[in-house]
Amino acid sequence: MPKPKSIKESITIMTEMVMPNDTNTLGNLMGGNLMRMMDIAGAITAQKHCNRIVVTASVDNVSFVNPIPLGNVVTLEGKITRAFTTSMEVVVNVFSENIPAGTKTKTNQAFLTFVAVDQTGRPIEVPEAIIETEEEKELYDSAQRRRELRLVLAGRLKPEEATALKSIFNL
Ligand SMILES: CC(C)(COP(=O)(O)OP(=O)(O)OC[C@H]1O[C@@H](n2cnc3c(N)ncnc32)[C@H](O)[C@@H]1OP(=O)(O)O)[C@@H](O)C(=O)NCCC(=O)NCCS
Repeated sequence: MPKPKSIKESITIMTEMVMPNDTNTLGNLMGGNLMRMMDIAGAITAQKHCNRIVVTASVDNVSFVNPIPLGNVVTLEGKITRAFTTSMEVVVNVFSENIPAGTKTKTNQAFLTFVAVDQTGRPIEVPEAIIETEEEKELYDSAQRRRELRLVLAGRLKPEEATALKSIFNL
């Protein structure tokens, strides 16, 4: 069993400026490019937590609330919310910053699941995540419900076995 690790040890910050090649025809960052950046930031976070190769197992809902215009600076912050047996849930928050105007807004958030694998691609155990703050505790607790929901949607868990989900719906 790998040694537990605190969440702050793997926090990952990735920063990039939106350039013309990154944009859609309206001059805003293209959604697919942002998803790629979120996947990379999340994967680095997960790798730092487990010191292993990781693969993306799933990406939960990504909503594009505000466009990120050309010339703005995108900052992605990846943080482990919970480590299960071989998988880790990572939350990636995205901020858009207009440096000359002095404004910074949160534009997106997504939960991604990564699985640690060995050289042959077989899942391998990951360290537990040590909770140190109230915010980390809330994300840790809710991770069980998100896990059940995504495993039900992926056809990997029967709805009647989703016990944490049942409790919030009083079933
Ligand atoms: C993810 C992967 C390693 C799982 O392999 P598997 O043989 O199904 O392994 P298991 O059934 O033992 O599951 C391993 C872990 O993955 C998790 N998992 C599997 N599918 C999942 C999904 N759709 N969403 C979230 N987690 C998932 C399981 O819950 C389990 O987590 P746990 O050990 O913490 O409980 C395998 O499906 C894979 O390699 N997928 C392709 C990954 C990839 O190439 N990603 C890039 C896409 S281009």
